[in-house]
Amino acid sequence: MNNKVAKEKKGVFPMEEREISRAVITRLPRYYRYLGELLEGGVERISSNELSVRMRVTASQIRQDLNNFGGFGQQGYGYNVKYLYTEIGKILGIDRQHNLVIIGAGNLGQAIANYANFEKRGFIIKGMFDINPRLIGLVVRGIEIRGVDDLEQFIEENDVQMAALTIPKTKAPEIADRLVDAGIKAIWNFAHVDLNVPDDVVVENVHLSESLMRLSYRVCSMQDQEEKKKAKEEKQEKGRERRF
Ligand code: NAI
Repeated sequence: MNNKVAKEKKGVFPMEEREISRAVITRLPRYYRYLGELLEGGVERISSNELSVRMRVTASQIRQDLNNFGGFGQQGYGYNVKYLYTEIGKILGIDRQHNLVIIGAGNLGQAIANYANFEKRGFIIKGMFDINPRLIGLVVRGIEIRGVDDLEQFIEENDVQMAALTIPKTKAPEIADRLVDAGIKAIWNFAHVDLNVPDDVVVENVHLSESLMRLSYRVCSMQDQEEKKKAKEEKQEKGRERRF
């Protein structure tokens, strides 16, 4: 195994000469969002301490993360918000246009198509596909729903590299194979199934229910702790009452 492959297996990605860990990449969109808000608010410079308060991340984490991209900040002078915003945008590849298609024009597919903000980030929804004849021909926010028979030709003619999969999990592997054969390089997978794709294709699985389960864990453990604290206080109170 060569060095590059070994590092990718460990979740470290080569980026030009530098290497950026998967954990840092995961945090970058959040930095991008906060910096975008600062920019809209007319803020030109921000220190890691100020950013830390806003983002509720430690200042040392911010410095460590942003140091990965080399010298965005100056000691005692803070970060140039616009520069940092632009550079992170380039790292995330959202300074480029990404053409995408949505496969499955049901509830979720239509909700994604209706969200206009993806376009501001460079994600252009070129078309939607479905097998339901009642949906084919409908137009959602200017995007026509087509039959899947046209899929390969459409991908080729519209220079599409990305696909969102919002179809039942039983149908997803077969469609994923077709997408890959048609030249799709990135799949935004909402179907609850792990897809087998070649090494030159990337998949981002999105599971809202997993996020909801994490939320459930956090609220339950908070409630459990409160109950334990209350029980302890009651026990102490009873102990005091018995003593007097
Ligand atoms: P839906 O039933 O409203 O939409 C699914 C659409 O896919 C239908 O219009 C159907 O005709 C179409 N379809 C079925 N087979 C197809 C094929 N071979 N090619 C093209 N289109 C096909 O369902 P909904 O609510 O939009 O959910 C879609 C999928 O996303 C489901 O598998 C669901 O479990 C999943 N889902 C995932 C979430 C997540 O967080 N990952 C959240 C919500 C839903």
